[in-house]
Amino acid sequence: MRVLSGIQPTGRFHWGNYFGAIRQYIDLQDNDQAFYFIADLHALTTIRDPERLRELSRDAAVDLLALGLDPERATLFRQSDVPEIPELTWLLMTVTQMHLLEKCHAYKDKKAKGIAADAGLFTYPVLMAADILLYDSDIVPVGADQIQHIEVTRDIAQRFNSIYSEDVFVLPQSHVVEATGKIPGLDGEKMSSSYDNTIEVFLPPKKLRKKIMSIKTDSTPVEEPKDPDRCAVFALYRLFASEAEQAALAARYRAGGMGYGEAKQTLFEAADANFSPARAKREELVANPAVVDDVLRDGARRAREKGREVLDRARSACGLTRRAN
Ligand code: TRP
Repeated sequence: MRVLSGIQPTGRFHWGNYFGAIRQYIDLQDNDQAFYFIADLHALTTIRDPERLRELSRDAAVDLLALGLDPERATLFRQSDVPEIPELTWLLMTVTQMHLLEKCHAYKDKKAKGIAADAGLFTYPVLMAADILLYDSDIVPVGADQIQHIEVTRDIAQRFNSIYSEDVFVLPQSHVVEATGKIPGLDGEKMSSSYDNTIEVFLPPKKLRKKIMSIKTDSTPVEEPKDPDRCAVFALYRLFASEAEQAALAARYRAGGMGYGEAKQTLFEAADANFSPARAKREELVANPAVVDDVLRDGARRAREKGREVLDRARSACGLTRRAN
């Protein structure tokens, strides 16, 4: 069973990304064959600063490894290191109906706002279909916002198969990963880079503490009882604490006499302890860039090996020559 997902390097990972998706991806690496890649070709539709793209792509790889992605079990690569992807994208493009892409949300939203879209944004879902179909992926873990793209992938695969041959592409299933409960950001709204309210996973302790201290809370005085279920600090604490620890902090909220500053300090200590091993691992990887290069090189090699086989199947089905390898 092949599990595959792509991660766009559009910013440093924050708690919303980690608890909402990345942690689940890492847990899925125990499946037979997990492929994860840094979707730098997709990121080109939004990032136009080459230095920043290079840095963010690299950081994404380092962060994933530091957070526990194990290259012995999973294959990690950069999308742009697999030239079979853009080649397959073209083959798929020739059978993709415009109306499928016209209804996809990234493009539709832009158009609704009157912003001109590039062909890259319009055809983004076809590139994503190539990412998925190239390795006979069975399961694609994604956030709910990507379900539409997996549906489009299935439609494109089905159309190609029905025009040429039923045995070219495997139809993938989406597997929705979600955080348990809402992950609020600094302002209490859903944590998201578009709201500028994020807490990044790899903040050094001092900065982490400062961010946590800036979480918005209400103005209930210290002595008064407080409602943990309406407090962003408590919601975030739940991500790190055991049931017993959660119950203990909830009791202190309800008893009164505890200010939000104390709750924030408790959250800081839990988060800091939780991410401290990953931070140490990250430092080690940053000090040994060759290790990361090797992982990415080996990942691309493994991905291309499988990719060439599927691409050949597609080339041959539609009347192109097989590649001499
Ligand atoms: N579009 C996805 C996102 O923004 C990233 C992505 C690119 C992806 N290619 C993929 C996810 C293939 C799953 C499978 O989150």
